[in-house]
Amino acid sequence: MKKGTILSGMRPTGALHLGNYFGALENWVKLQDDYDCYFMIADWHALTTGYEDTSQIKNNIDEIVIDWLSAGLDPEKCTMFLQSNVKQHAELHLLFSMITPLSWLFRCPTYKEQLAQLKDKNITNYGFLGYPCLQAADILVYKADVVPVGEDQLPHLELTREIARRFNYIFGQVFPEPAHLLTKAKVLPGTDGRKMSKSYGNTIALSDSPDEVRKKVSVMITDPARIRKDDPGHPEVCAVYAFHKVFNEEGAAETEELCRGGKIGCVQCKRNLADKMVQYLSPIYERRRAILDKPGLIREVIESGSESARKKAEKTMEEVRTAMKIDW
Ligand code: TRP
Ligand code: SF4
Repeated sequence: MKKGTILSGMRPTGALHLGNYFGALENWVKLQDDYDCYFMIADWHALTTGYEDTSQIKNNIDEIVIDWLSAGLDPEKCTMFLQSNVKQHAELHLLFSMITPLSWLFRCPTYKEQLAQLKDKNITNYGFLGYPCLQAADILVYKADVVPVGEDQLPHLELTREIARRFNYIFGQVFPEPAHLLTKAKVLPGTDGRKMSKSYGNTIALSDSPDEVRKKVSVMITDPARIRKDDPGHPEVCAVYAFHKVFNEEGAAETEELCRGGKIGCVQCKRNLADKMVQYLSPIYERRRAILDKPGLIREVIESGSESARKKAEKTMEEVRTAMKIDW
């Protein structure tokens, strides 16, 4: 017996990195055994800030599915689908737009922040303002009980619950109020010690080969106080040590001791880490290799996932049209 329905999604904006893996994907892989899971490629959401140049999206869609499968999502256990393949999201978004006060959208903190951050983009459009309204449709069209998200998405979840409540109040009970599930993310900084983020150029991608991983680890920023090998180090300020804690759990305490005592050089410490990382990531590498051997697989996963998503979504839409008395 499954514990309930889960929906979550990612925008197809390019190769997933280890921050995405530990921040979300690793958790999704666990959830697929216990919940009826819908994992969505949010290509319409990608348009809200990138509608002018759509040239990369198709490729990014394929890439994200390859990343998901190589991380261990299994089409036998969960439904992976493409948002734009399930037009019911657009219909529900439109109906929600009738009952969503503009003030709710304008006061959304993510809207205000992004507007300030992306000053060079023309995003003073409805599509961008209505982003959370579309997200509410994504979630509620599956009547999801639980939505695993990062902290940055909490305002959107709150808005989703408000829209569900308002719909139920006006038209009668149709939607559950979904709960969020905050991912207890392992903290993995970027290779320079800041937050891992594509815009900083400090990521390690899930698709990076073992050689690329080794190369990136070899130039990671360490404790700047260590000039000679026997200088005592401060692992707490070192990105390499933060990685050791994730990829080398049993060996992290020893690494810390050696570093503090000036008994290991950073070059050796990085080599140890790279070995552990390649070992840790080897199941992901193996799955990726197997996936790339089957050229039709990715399309097939998207098609069949989208088909079962459509069935579930259409069932909800029939209830919605009936509740609103627009099933004429
Ligand atoms: N807004 C989410 C993000 O940027 C992506 C997303 C779209 C999503 N629809 C969703 C996440 C529904 C959870 C549920 O990460
Ligand atoms: Fe970082 Fe390791 Fe060098 Fe210590 S020895 S500063 S933990 S790389």
